[in-house]
Amino acid sequence: MQCSWKSVVLLALASIAIQYTAIRTFSTKPFNLLCSVGSNPPTELAPTGHPVNCSLKDVTWLGRETFESSDRGCDEILSHNSPFSFPSYNANKRTHILILATTRSGSSFVGQLFNQNPEVFYLFEPLYHVQLTLLPRLAQSRNLAERRVMLGAARDLLRSLYHCHLNSLESYIRPRPANHSTDKLFRRGASRSLCSPPVCEAPLGPGEQSQVLADEGECVRKCGPLNVSLAADTCRAKRHAAIKTVRIPQINDLRALIEDPRLNLKVVQLVRDPRGILASRIETFRDTYRLWRLWRATGRRPHNLDLGQINTVCEDFRRSVSTGLARPAWLRGRYMLLRYEDLARFPLQKTRELYSFLGLVLDHSVKDWIINNTRGSSDLSARQKFTTVRDSAANAENWRVKLSFDMVVYTQTACQPLLELLGYKTVFSPRELRNLSHSLVEDRTFLPFF
Ligand SMILES: *[C@@H]1O[C@H](CO)[C@@H](O)[C@H](O)[C@H]1NC(C)=O
Ligand SMILES: *[C@@H]1O[C@H](CO)[C@@H](O)[C@H](O)[C@H]1NC(C)=O
Ligand SMILES: *[C@@H]1O[C@H](CO)[C@@H](O)[C@H](O)[C@H]1NC(C)=O
Ligand SMILES: *[C@@H]1O[C@H](CO)[C@@H](O)[C@H](O)[C@H]1NC(C)=O
Repeated sequence: MQCSWKSVVLLALASIAIQYTAIRTFSTKPFNLLCSVGSNPPTELAPTGHPVNCSLKDVTWLGRETFESSDRGCDEILSHNSPFSFPSYNANKRTHILILATTRSGSSFVGQLFNQNPEVFYLFEPLYHVQLTLLPRLAQSRNLAERRVMLGAARDLLRSLYHCHLNSLESYIRPRPANHSTDKLFRRGASRSLCSPPVCEAPLGPGEQSQVLADEGECVRKCGPLNVSLAADTCRAKRHAAIKTVRIPQINDLRALIEDPRLNLKVVQLVRDPRGILASRIETFRDTYRLWRLWRATGRRPHNLDLGQINTVCEDFRRSVSTGLARPAWLRGRYMLLRYEDLARFPLQKTRELYSFLGLVLDHSVKDWIINNTRGSSDLSARQKFTTVRDSAANAENWRVKLSFDMVVYTQTACQPLLELLGYKTVFSPRELRNLSHSLVEDRTFLPFF
């Protein structure tokens, strides 16, 4: 391993950091403004990638982060050290997290980064029930009035859920739960909190608890109907809450919640190359994307092919990301853009940035989960258990061998403005498409702003 003088400096900083961490442990004061970054992007970076203008304390904090990442080796630390720091760090404040995503963009993987944290109450797509009740037929209504009704209901429900009023969800569950008990909660098994004591009271034998947590079906089979009141108690007992959804189209749809000072909502917008989303959806939603599969099989584009879904993805992304990059005051400290491809390439580093933005402590179980479930893992059987893995790290770019060149050209033409905005390169030849040593993801850093 080639360690430069930079590593030596970092190691020195790390040792200061150990002492500092010890001091911090005995201090109950919230961790306030670290760097005078203000509302401007920290453009002045020292050659090491650390912001200048920082006091020793600030650098120490960065040093501590680096120290924790030392297991990744010098190379990753130095080339992907976080080029920015974050203004506040207050683990005592209850934070509400929303993962704003679309289907097949890697949201299950991102959800796990919170689900695995014992301090976070995590819900996987509760808005499914709202959509099923209000818009049973349409996956994504293009009717504006319907969309507005659905979004209004979705916002109200999200607010209630963050405040742990889980019985608000009951009115959307069919059949309506009696005595606050239901076995119809969508993807209950994807939430650790709902599969662990006290919510899951089933008498479990040795080893069964971990089975229940590793396998969604096992949770539903072994834990019995969900006691919604108990789940609400657990929600209140946890320090933070996180919700993943693919049913909110744009960040602008969340403005009322973000501006609610009692909610302390922070949004992680997850984006992915639309060509990757398309390839993954073609595999997953076989009916809806039937014509695309026909195209792939025959080599000829069906004349009635519907570009609607992929246009919707690109347009929703484009509007949200444009809003985020314009840095409006209402998003200050509340919005982080995350490219799935970056998370796939540098899972630990990106997760650290995510947790720093949120002001949460990155728990060991989260780190362990990442190591177990990305290419760092040597335990294949553990990896295969999670459906999230199918789509994770190694597979982020496999659309490049799954889509035909024509399909790629067609899609990237439709989504051109978005690709530029997010730093995804267009391809001009089949050779360029299939040459995996030629990356199609530009190096970009999307800084949260405070
Ligand atoms: C609900 O609880 C009440 C009282 O405990 C009981 O009489 C009733 O049968 C329960 N209803 C259902 C549907 O389980
Ligand atoms: C649900 O849990 C509560 C305790 O929070 C308990 O009083 C209630 O009886 C439980 N309901 C059912 C249906 O088991
Ligand atoms: C990681 O894998 C090891 C070995 O299989 C296992 O003991 C541990 O529980 C796993 N941890 C997580 C968080 O998945
Ligand atoms: C693949 O891409 C790499 C990096 O851009 C380039 O050096 C190489 O010549 C390309 N190979 C082919 C066969 O085009």
